[in-house]
Amino acid sequence: MANETLYFELNTGAKIPSVGLGTWQSEPGVVGQAVEAAIKSGYRHIDCARAYGNEKEIGLVLKKLFDDGVVKREDLFITSKLWCTDHAPEDVHVALDKTLEELQLDYVDLFLIHWPVRMKKESVGFGPENLVPADIPSTWKAMEALYDSGKTRAIGVSNFSVKKLGDLLDKARIPPAVNQVECHPSWQQAKLREFCKSKGVHLSGYSPLGSPGTTWLKSEVLKHPVLVATAEKLGRSPAQVALRWGLQMGHIVLPKSTNETRIKENFDVFSWSIPDDLCTKFSEIKQASCSHTARLLRGGSFVHETLGQYKTLEDLWDGEI
Ligand code: A2P
Repeated sequence: MANETLYFELNTGAKIPSVGLGTWQSEPGVVGQAVEAAIKSGYRHIDCARAYGNEKEIGLVLKKLFDDGVVKREDLFITSKLWCTDHAPEDVHVALDKTLEELQLDYVDLFLIHWPVRMKKESVGFGPENLVPADIPSTWKAMEALYDSGKTRAIGVSNFSVKKLGDLLDKARIPPAVNQVECHPSWQQAKLREFCKSKGVHLSGYSPLGSPGTTWLKSEVLKHPVLVATAEKLGRSPAQVALRWGLQMGHIVLPKSTNETRIKENFDVFSWSIPDDLCTKFSEIKQASCSHTARLLRGGSFVHETLGQYKTLEDLWDGEI
């Protein structure tokens, strides 16, 4: 089966390739090789962000691949993100220009507000003293101007709750094309998924494997018994099943890897599918807080009793925690 899962369509009419290479925590020195291996294996979608600190190396490799005729710019889908220090309207276009310079591109396909959180310009790190109240409508207006300029072909958000996305949709001239959020079998985002669907916003899934390499998260997503049993039945790896589940739920997945074997493994998710009877078992996976079934990336650094905008995690996620 299933060529229909190769792309999803955004509300701009653009096609977004359904498996993108994640680059968060892909270290400088290895991220270039990972991007090259991915593109040579068939990936056409790379998910980047200024905050990942590796766009320059990705840009060098993209240029080499274009120069060598391996792939054409127009056949790639490149995403980047506006970091929290660049939310002031006058800083938004400067931030995208910097990203374009580092990636050596004339445009990105998608530019996202990385978090609904604002930090002081030029601040380094995640100390609470850097937090200031966000003003999403004014930042969004600057994002809309970027869309008008053609330097990004679509605009969107990341880490937005139903409430924050709804508030933005109420005010936006151009609705966000994407809300990129943590999504995997142990954090399925049912409420947000329904809301996004009803508004024509594509929910895209980061940490689709539950970020097993992030030691401070203690993730056990790939060890969940439903996932392991399904993988055994289908003769696939738990990672492949987690990714295929995401595609069958209707969203793009952004697995990160810097290992060529796993990069290829993560792209081998189109020629097979999870049968309905096995897929329904995923809806039984508990989403309540315990070691392997809760939101992993909680954004604890973005909340503070007195500083910034969000006093608690409840405020940051509007209860979706
Ligand atoms: P590595 O880069 O060494 O392959 P996520 O995309 O959910 O954030 O997960 C990324 C983590 O999962 C990284 O630590 C990555 O390590 C690891 N990983 C990527 N692909 C696979 C796979 N197919 N099986 C197991 N672990 C994987």
